[in-house]
Amino acid sequence: SWTPDAFVDKTVAELKEKIGDEKVILGLSGGVDSSVAAVLLHKAIGKNLHCIFVNNGLLRKNEFTEVLKQYEGMGLNVKGVDASARFLNDLAGESDPETKRKIIGRVFIEVFDDESHLVEGAKWLAQGTIYPDVIESVSATGGPSQTIKSHHNVGGLPDFMKLKVVEPLKMLFKDEVRRVGASLGIDKALLGRHPFPGPGLAIRILGDITPEKVAILQEVDAIFIDGLKKWDLYDKVWQAGAMLLPVNSVGVMGDERTYEKCVALRAVESTDGMTADWVNLPYEFLQKTSNDIINKVPGVNRVVYDISSKPPATIEWE
Ligand code: XMP
Repeated sequence: SWTPDAFVDKTVAELKEKIGDEKVILGLSGGVDSSVAAVLLHKAIGKNLHCIFVNNGLLRKNEFTEVLKQYEGMGLNVKGVDASARFLNDLAGESDPETKRKIIGRVFIEVFDDESHLVEGAKWLAQGTIYPDVIESVSATGGPSQTIKSHHNVGGLPDFMKLKVVEPLKMLFKDEVRRVGASLGIDKALLGRHPFPGPGLAIRILGDITPEKVAILQEVDAIFIDGLKKWDLYDKVWQAGAMLLPVNSVGVMGDERTYEKCVALRAVESTDGMTADWVNLPYEFLQKTSNDIINKVPGVNRVVYDISSKPPATIEWE
């Protein structure tokens, strides 16, 4: 029968055999799949695995620096590339959800291609593709690898896409990937992370994106997610996040009338993201979270909770 330990032994041996002493490039996203793929490859080929972790400026608060540090602590040969300005610049003024996704996909490919050219003589591109990605190629979903797939016909093939592809998790389901990760000694918190979309906060800021809006949403999201952890609710939820709505509403603060932003919180239960139910979070938790957000995040005066299931409502609002 299948065991994570046996999978690790067999796969590491196969990777050594297949790759030899050639160099491999891998895009880390901070998510479970790319992280497990990286540790597995690192175990097989060590420093010949060159990981690239791109900050698109649309990650959660402090995520880039914290996750980068964590990767370094795991001994990975990783380069963090802060391309925030480039992404936000190209997104400026754009409100259409699909166009935002396309811009992010394109800039990611440009940045990744530039970075991969710096790894001289690389022969392989590793991806954290898992079995459900293979069978469904879930249209818009998935991490960097999916982003790459849906954009590879734009303006000719970038050089890194001409590399040989290695996908060590290709035959695994998500729960098996987590078990492999645990067997490799990867931090439980990393393995238990909620899914996070490749375009990040861009599709949770309804309408156009500005650095100010990103900063507001990062604060709101951090209060919500930290709260879920503190209240021991994080692991009971499949995915959670906050949406910044493109409306202002009236409020009062002391004697003053305010006219500020509204955020929506969303937490869902799901097994694969294809269907989802909203989570019945405790009222006390929602009350505390709402107060914290309104008191601590300037520019937000109203919090609502999304009680829509998928279908018909999608998990993301864009
Ligand atoms: P929806 O909103 O379609 O989301 O119900 C289902 C799952 O997919 C994620 N998602 C994306 N992931 N790129 C991604 O990498 C995307 O463009 C994208 N859109 C949605 C979403 O976070 C949820 O887990």
